[in-house]
Amino acid sequence: MCGIVGYVGQQDALEVVLAGLRRLEYRGYDSAGVAILSPDGHLAVERKAGKLANLEKELSEVSLPGTLGIGHTRWATHGPPTDRNAHPHVDCSGDVAVVHNGTIENFEVLVRGLEDRGHRRTSDTDTEAVAHLVEERYEALGGDLAATVRSICKDLEGSFVLVVAHKAEPDLVVAARRNLPLVIGLGDGENFLGSDVTAFIAHTREARAVDQDQVVELRRSGVTVTDLEGTVVEGDSYHVDWDTDAAEKDGHEFFMLKEIEEQPEAIRATLGGRMQEDGLLHLDELSMSDQDIRDIEQVVIIGCGSAYHSGLVGKYALERWSRLPVQVEMASEFRYRDPVIGRSTLVIAVSQSGETADTLEAVRHARHLRAKVLAVTNTVGSTISRESDAALYTRGGPEVAVASTKAVMTQMTAMYLVGLYLAQVRGTRDPDEVRAHLADLREIPDLVQEVIDRMGPVRALAKQLAGSERVLFLGRHVGYPMALEGALKLKELAYVSAEGFPAGEIKHGPIALIEDGTPVVIIAPRHALQAKLINNVQEVRARGARTIVIATDGDEAVTPYADTVIRIPDTKSLLTPLLTIVPLQVLSAAVAMARGLDVDQPRNLAKSVTVE
Ligand code: F6R
Repeated sequence: MCGIVGYVGQQDALEVVLAGLRRLEYRGYDSAGVAILSPDGHLAVERKAGKLANLEKELSEVSLPGTLGIGHTRWATHGPPTDRNAHPHVDCSGDVAVVHNGTIENFEVLVRGLEDRGHRRTSDTDTEAVAHLVEERYEALGGDLAATVRSICKDLEGSFVLVVAHKAEPDLVVAARRNLPLVIGLGDGENFLGSDVTAFIAHTREARAVDQDQVVELRRSGVTVTDLEGTVVEGDSYHVDWDTDAAEKDGHEFFMLKEIEEQPEAIRATLGGRMQEDGLLHLDELSMSDQDIRDIEQVVIIGCGSAYHSGLVGKYALERWSRLPVQVEMASEFRYRDPVIGRSTLVIAVSQSGETADTLEAVRHARHLRAKVLAVTNTVGSTISRESDAALYTRGGPEVAVASTKAVMTQMTAMYLVGLYLAQVRGTRDPDEVRAHLADLREIPDLVQEVIDRMGPVRALAKQLAGSERVLFLGRHVGYPMALEGALKLKELAYVSAEGFPAGEIKHGPIALIEDGTPVVIIAPRHALQAKLINNVQEVRARGARTIVIATDGDEAVTPYADTVIRIPDTKSLLTPLLTIVPLQVLSAAVAMARGLDVDQPRNLAKSVTVE
């Protein structure tokens, strides 16, 4: 949560910083602000509550020249989203400006000390304490801004990325990182900082990740990274292999609509290069020997929100193919129940951002208990990928809309790959069967495209459902996680009360929610449990539900009980989530649009949830 940007170079810093913030706005949009160091040594700060557009409007009326700047887009933690709580925060003299992502847990103690020593606070934030601490220590530490930040970091508890500019430093931005993401963009005569690479991808594709408790000195001529003791640490840079187009709306009204359309390509990218010439899988990324894989006794999958739903789909695939017992758990609950895991447990942490605090803490706990942790993530260099034993990248490309679409799709694809790979190595499926399943997977991108091309009627349906107060989603087997996902999407995008249930469970209580006309979406592609599912459709219909059924082409078994049928092409039953998820995504986005809502930035949310 919160996006941060830093720049020092030759270009107009305001333009660079604002462009970076536009790309990071998905991380939080309660308020935004910038600090620009002018050529005459004035540190100008502008900040405004509300979305970035509010700040941009204000900035259109002022001139902020300069080639060094920092910026912030906020998801509020300490203090309401007002102008005065917007970042950057400054010290008493206005010489220091600080932007911050994260929470400083001991800020109250720090603030009390600062107030006792005569500092005046002008915001309710934890961040402001850092600006005053810089003010106190900068001179004492010989005017060395990096040493000042290092000394402050030692006194901070919690999670943070801090970016600091000082009026007396026309060629230096200092940043520090603990637990939250910070990436350096390496340019020529200019350098960048961002919460992720999208912040600077328009300028450079060379990036370097910053590790735990490291401090960055960003100058025009280069970048120095040290640990908290001031020892220089070397690090490798990496090349980002997608360009700015991937992070643009490309004519779509919302990023989410574009990202839904990108799914066929995203699945191809996830599958790409992971199959050998003999048609079998090759997943070196797991960093596990065949013997390690044979020694696994159980699998635990952890994730939050939609990533948890991908994990649930993974459970069906892994258990079916590899015959290993699999548990799936919400990462936020995992470490508090004293899980019984150890050396023979494979923990799979699913996370698009690779920064979700609940998942990260669960990863740390699992490793502490000596389990082997595999990250399934979209973000190269993310904290979860670096703190896990191995990382399987989903290669979905940047996802800007807050609600996850192609990331979930590629996570599910990756889970199928892991399931098949475990089966291949453990010999629980013979090679021909593995090849056949992989062939089915390779057909999925075209089938997803077919579903996307047919979404006109779903958008029309959304207009009819726009006034509904409650929608229920039912599914069985792999349809159940999709029922959960459909309900989550509708809740978060359209603010409609929605719940997903295993269809068989509805008669044990939830059926009481059904009134005349209650829309019930039933995920009912052709598979072994369909006869039971049809009973459930009849049960809800008999109580007045309006039934919307997602069914396989040519399957007429469900149509007599459906008020509306949404068709998907046929595929193997285990793979159906890769198709049924598409109408659920389109429906939620279209209901939100019909209700006049911002599909990309739903209220109260942020894309990367870096607080527990
Ligand atoms: C829902 C959604 C969230 C995320 C969850 C985990 O549309 O996007 O539920 O799936 O916050 O995020 P990551 O995958 O980044 O760990």
